Amino acid sequence: MPLLLDAPLQRAVGRFVPASLPPTGTFDGQTVLIIGATSGLGLAAAVHFATLGANVIITSRVASRGDIAKQHIEEAAGPSFKGDISCLELDLEHYDSCTDFMIKLKSSLPGPADLDVAIVNGGICSSGKLEKSAQGWEKSIQINTIGSTLIGLLLLGWMRGARDHRSSPAHLVFLTSREHLYPDLNQLSEWSQRKDGILGQVSREENWPSGFWDAEPNYAISKLLLMYTIEEISRLARGPDGDPLVVVNSVCPGMVRTDIGRHISSRSWFHALCVYLTLVITAKSADSGARIYVTAALQPKENHGEFFGYWLAGDLYRRKAATLIDSDKARALQKLVWKEVSEELKANVPELQAGLDGL
Ligand SMILES: NC(=O)c1ccc[n+]([C@@H]2O[C@H](COP(=O)([O-])OP(=O)(O)OC[C@H]3O[C@@H](n4cnc5c(N)ncnc54)[C@H](OP(=O)(O)O)[C@@H]3O)[C@@H](O)[C@H]2O)c1
Repeated sequence: MPLLLDAPLQRAVGRFVPASLPPTGTFDGQTVLIIGATSGLGLAAAVHFATLGANVIITSRVASRGDIAKQHIEEAAGPSFKGDISCLELDLEHYDSCTDFMIKLKSSLPGPADLDVAIVNGGICSSGKLEKSAQGWEKSIQINTIGSTLIGLLLLGWMRGARDHRSSPAHLVFLTSREHLYPDLNQLSEWSQRKDGILGQVSREENWPSGFWDAEPNYAISKLLLMYTIEEISRLARGPDGDPLVVVNSVCPGMVRTDIGRHISSRSWFHALCVYLTLVITAKSADSGARIYVTAALQPKENHGEFFGYWLAGDLYRRKAATLIDSDKARALQKLVWKEVSEELKANVPELQAGLDGL
């Protein structure tokens, strides 16, 4: 789809809907983990949680970036901040980095009951060039879908065992995007029937439009596939009585001025100008967008499994999601996507080989 035309007006709505007031509530003494918090929304969310009294654990792929982010959060939280900010290394692109991270996380906290909120935020938007991960999948699918699902499963497996030692369930929040409402369901359904499945098809050169006017195709798809796997993670988060042992939610902050479009900008001065103008016209600040992370972390267990954005939630979201989430075709696709992603993870991550239900 041509880059300039691929910007439905609705994406801009959030820019003009006033963001909720600065986050309120207290996280005094609580611990909040934010995966991918060296820049943009994750960094702004870390500042919000620290300001509200939380100890914050952030992650970075590069230790030096984590150190700079840590210093920024401490300064922004102000002199009254008495909590602790720490940074652990994690690269969602690599399975062993995710499992190593869990070992480090477990040794940095007294126990799973001491992790109150985990936010799976890290993600990328690819450039016009198809790049593959070491596992052979297109990179945004590897990071935004498969890696985010893996870390979500590993965190859930650890956190849900702590329910009896907590007065209320902990929270696991995924950053998706309302872009998940835009992929072509018929195309994905057709790909799901091919020998190499959806993961294989979205990683193929011939399915990667490379014309000057083409937008990268996989960001929205990666977030839809993530929505499908979050559905299973939400199911696994329920205890025998159906109550969530960990409250799972997915959120979209709307269009936000961050560096996520840098790979698109790097294609040409024209692309850079388009990204710049799109953000100036349609996007809110990271500080404003990140308020929804706090809202998500305060959701009651009755809202377990729900997606929400600033203005797109509840019945309005369900109407918009009728085709890509709720239709019969979408339901069939969701099962196939979960099968592909969970089989990929079971085959490659020793910690998951015994099966996902027994995490
Ligand atoms: N900006 C928007 O308008 C918007 C809208 C809807 C949803 N979102 C979602 O919000 C999340 C944050 O995006 P942003 O806009 O704040 O972008 P950003 O400024 O580019 O921040 C992305 C963060 O993800 C981390 N990250 C990137 N690749 C990673 C990997 N392989 N493993 C672990 N962490 C990785 C980065 O950390 P390091 O590179 O330091 O490791 C960085 O902290 C993403 O999931 C994005 O899809 C953004």
